[in-house]
Amino acid sequence: MCNSCLPRIPSDAHKMEAFAGQMMSVINNAALGNMISIGHRTRLFDVMDTMEPATSAEIATCAGLSERYVREWLGALVCGKIVEYEPEGKTYLLPAENAFFLTRKSKEKNMAAIASILPVWSSVEDKIVDCFENGGGVPYSEYGRFYQVMGEISNANVGNNLIDNILTQKPKQMEALTNGIDVLDVGCGDGKILMELAKNFPNSRFVGIDLCPEPIQSAQTRATMSGLENINFFEADILEYQFDKHFDLITTFDVIHDLAFPDKVLAKINALLKANTGQYLMMDINASSNLENNEEHPLAPFLYTASTLHCMSVSLAQGGMGLGTVWGVEKAKEMLAEAGFSSVAIENYQHDMMNNYYFCTK
Ligand SMILES: C[S@@+](CC[C@H](N)C(=O)[O-])C[C@H]1O[C@@H](n2cnc3c(N)ncnc32)[C@H](O)[C@@H]1O
Repeated sequence: MCNSCLPRIPSDAHKMEAFAGQMMSVINNAALGNMISIGHRTRLFDVMDTMEPATSAEIATCAGLSERYVREWLGALVCGKIVEYEPEGKTYLLPAENAFFLTRKSKEKNMAAIASILPVWSSVEDKIVDCFENGGGVPYSEYGRFYQVMGEISNANVGNNLIDNILTQKPKQMEALTNGIDVLDVGCGDGKILMELAKNFPNSRFVGIDLCPEPIQSAQTRATMSGLENINFFEADILEYQFDKHFDLITTFDVIHDLAFPDKVLAKINALLKANTGQYLMMDINASSNLENNEEHPLAPFLYTASTLHCMSVSLAQGGMGLGTVWGVEKAKEMLAEAGFSSVAIENYQHDMMNNYYFCTK
């Protein structure tokens, strides 16, 4: 604390009252975020979506869970206006309108899956506080279930949508993938997105590369089990791996802002593309590089939190740039130009309000 300064004295009573109310909502909603994550992980939302009004015992039995925990969880959700309660019969109902945004059937609209990343970030809070005090970052290896949660979210969000809502609008790209091209996904995580492509385009050859062992092992296991022969995964740093070929299409999904050296990776991606025909698809956060333009962004607090607790920190842990989740479209365009991309077309899709899709050519 600065010794020469004294704390300011509040003078606007209305402002104080309004802010106290805001803080109460923040605390209640943060607590509900944890309950929603548990509802997703235990599949309670999916189970309740199929049930008429039921007691906590009936819900617990259907879900195969402990009634005492389920009842306490229901208490939070009733008071949080997510579940409806009928005191006479002590029954609970998850309205279909709410279930639509909380269940696996809704894929990318399932906000409970997104909420399940909150406790993953919070699990490293002590280490992040240490970084505030001493600098540095928190490495990927500290983030426990991160890859499982990330894989689930990105598969629901990108998965089928990549083909159904994006590539189908690009007939030339569809034709090339159908006929057979070489595709590289950098920072592929657990590889679900790439496997979806490999299944749908058997004549094309797919390579996924990721720095971390855990997601790559899981990707390799699933690829082997599915019998796909047109896909390979490698655990490596993209900057160090020596490729023996050039690629027609390179993709990154939610990766560039996480990297230690995004400038070098973008330049390497450019160099790995086939001359004249190679295309790079970068999916990254739809926000501005300027804080003042993000104040009304519906997910801005979530994005800056993601950055502080994960994306910026994993980069800084490697002695990297710490670009941050909200590096923004202005900075992205600047860095893509510096990396040698001559043309960049930015597209947005209704199914994915969180991201921009940058179609880049050499
Ligand atoms: C936010 S995750 C996205 C994963 C995946 N694309 C998805 O959408 O599920 C970023 C990924 O980039 C990987 N990564 C970070 N630095 C890398 C590097 N230098 N080389 C390869 N992968 C890297 C991380 O291990 C992590 O899996």
